[in-house]
Amino acid sequence: MKTILITGGAGFIGSHVVRRFVKKYPGYKIVNLDNLTYAGNLANLRDIENEPNYEFVKADITAGELMKVLFKKYRFDGVIHLAAESHVDRSISSPMEFIYANILGTVNLLNAAREIWTDHTNKKFYHISTDEVYGSLGKTGFFYENTPYDPRSPYSASKASSDHLVRAYNHTYGLPTLISNCSNNYGPFQFPEKLIPLAIHNIKNNRLIPVYGKGENIRDWLFVEDHASAIDLIFHEGKIAETYNIGGHNEWTNIALIHLLCEIMDRKLKRSAGTSVNLIAYVKDRAGHDLRYAIDSGKIQKELGWKPSLQFAEGLEKTVDWYLANEEWMKNVTSGDYQKYYDNQYTKR
Ligand code: NAD
Ligand code: DAU
Repeated sequence: MKTILITGGAGFIGSHVVRRFVKKYPGYKIVNLDNLTYAGNLANLRDIENEPNYEFVKADITAGELMKVLFKKYRFDGVIHLAAESHVDRSISSPMEFIYANILGTVNLLNAAREIWTDHTNKKFYHISTDEVYGSLGKTGFFYENTPYDPRSPYSASKASSDHLVRAYNHTYGLPTLISNCSNNYGPFQFPEKLIPLAIHNIKNNRLIPVYGKGENIRDWLFVEDHASAIDLIFHEGKIAETYNIGGHNEWTNIALIHLLCEIMDRKLKRSAGTSVNLIAYVKDRAGHDLRYAIDSGKIQKELGWKPSLQFAEGLEKTVDWYLANEEWMKNVTSGDYQKYYDNQYTKR
């Protein structure tokens, strides 16, 4: 039996990756390591938590010595590293948390792998990253795997830094690494600070939908299970030391996306057409707001045969249905300081 470490498995994307691996690979033992920040939630994994090939370890990747102890104890064969601070707005207000978790945390895992994996045969250290490391595009063009790095927020700079460290450990120490850079994910279990679940939550509760600036920024949206399928493929069939871009070829301006979401929500909530758009509130722009992201995922499509399975309209309907059917989940994650945080955010604008 192989033992695979998945970090950040209690978060949004991590929980989909953990679920997929636990169900699809009964011959793997999946160790989910997460320190359960505000974004980490074991309720995301209720359906698989009692599976015999799953174990949860509460630990912080910024604790370097502890990572070595855990690598010794579990003798991991592979690592899929997702743990990170992931929200751009929070990186603007509190950059240091991003430096610790995303840079120091990654280097701690790299050091543990380098020190404990004396033999690299059949080992893999797979680092999950973002398209934001490439910077911002104008109206045309795409990000390719060889696009020069140009991170522009504390979040993307911390992720770029971790990508560089992963490549450096491959080049210098021969650590068998893989990296993928993905575009914006959406789907069930995403914390309602990111645009889509935040808008769903606010529309449902008749709260304003904050649209930054003029709403003209463009993102390339991918259903989270399609990201998980790409991660599965890259982990098993990706070429060591390579980078793969993952994206949906699905560009939307924020305002067009919010209009589509409003239409879907009006229909699902049986409100008359045009009700939810009245909640749109143009608010102060995000500092340094990147204009456009768009991924060319030709490499993973050609070399590994991956392609997204869901059209956006279908994925968005599925997502809305999930949030409307999981009110208890939303109530739990929005209890405590959540609303206070958002009320403070809006008064600043
Ligand atoms: P998330 O914020 O939902 O989850 C992050 C998880 O990491 C949480 O469970 C949290 O508790 C855990 N974590 C944070 N700091 C930790 C620490 N110090 N020690 C242990 N665990 C810690 O994030 P997500 O959206 O699921 O993103 C997962 C990964 O994918 C991140 O590396 C992110 O950069 C990357 N990514 C995200 C997107 C996206 O659209 N969300 C797109 C591309 C890449
Ligand atoms: O591109 C991949 C990245 O996508 C990931 O690496 C990040 O972890 C993930 O958070 C996401 O970053 P974005 O900043 O693009 O996602 P977010 O959902 O925060 O914002 C999407 C767009 O919507 C962006 O242009 C900002 C805008 N926005 C966001 C929020 C939260 C608004 O207009 N209003 C909002 O309230």
